[in-house]
Amino acid sequence: MLIDTHCHLDFPEFDKDRDEVIARARSEGIEYIINIGSSIDGSKRSLELSKQYDFIFSAVGIHPHEADNFDKGAELELSSLSRQDKVVAIGETGLDYFRNYSRQENQKILFLSLIKLAKELNLPLVIHSRQAQADTLKILKEAMPVKALVHCFSGDKGFLDECLTLGFFISFTCNITYKKAENLRNLIRDVPLDRLLLETDAPFLSPEGLRGKRNEPANVKHVAREISRIKEISIDEVSEVTSDNAKSFFNLVNTEKSSVGVGFIRPEK
Ligand code: NI
Repeated sequence: MLIDTHCHLDFPEFDKDRDEVIARARSEGIEYIINIGSSIDGSKRSLELSKQYDFIFSAVGIHPHEADNFDKGAELELSSLSRQDKVVAIGETGLDYFRNYSRQENQKILFLSLIKLAKELNLPLVIHSRQAQADTLKILKEAMPVKALVHCFSGDKGFLDECLTLGFFISFTCNITYKKAENLRNLIRDVPLDRLLLETDAPFLSPEGLRGKRNEPANVKHVAREISRIKEISIDEVSEVTSDNAKSFFNLVNTEKSSVGVGFIRPEK
């Protein structure tokens, strides 16, 4: 059983066959899905999905790309959304100096606001950091203690080491299967197994062989397979350890006594 810790099933790319995609994920052994909000509306749609499916949980957040539109109203709305059931993280949030779709100054304001919210609710953060290592670290270090996951890791060895020292978790997507991703595969060798999580970032980043097509949670098995090859351990071990990591990071608690088979306990304040 695998956990896809980062996907965007609320995106319009899934409008035609969302239920089929989710059913396929289940039939291919996906135990839980964490659907990540990247806007207010996206976070709302994500919460709808997690109400509909007991194995889908939500993160509530606004992507740094959207930072120019962030205002007091959005801040209040996010704060209220993040208090709903089955919200297990704040994100995605962070800095993107690669695309710079929003002003860097506004990205920082949004990032700080979401860090504050996460700390208030004692929820972990899902971090997006692209070509913004120095500022990401500076902001997170000043905010410590925080519990964070650096998603779709794309930094260098120095950034990785600092993140690991701060106790952060690291997740990789299907892009580790790309022919040119030797640098990422080398970094995976340096991430201890007990800090690794798996994700697809669907609909983006389909695995090698399926590139150009829409990605989906069932493809998280490609990430597990590649990591098992790189770390020279069995896929079963990768699945078991990364699923345990995800359950503890997002505080997903499997209470077999619960009537639906899955229980969720909000972390203590
Ligand atoms: Ni994402």
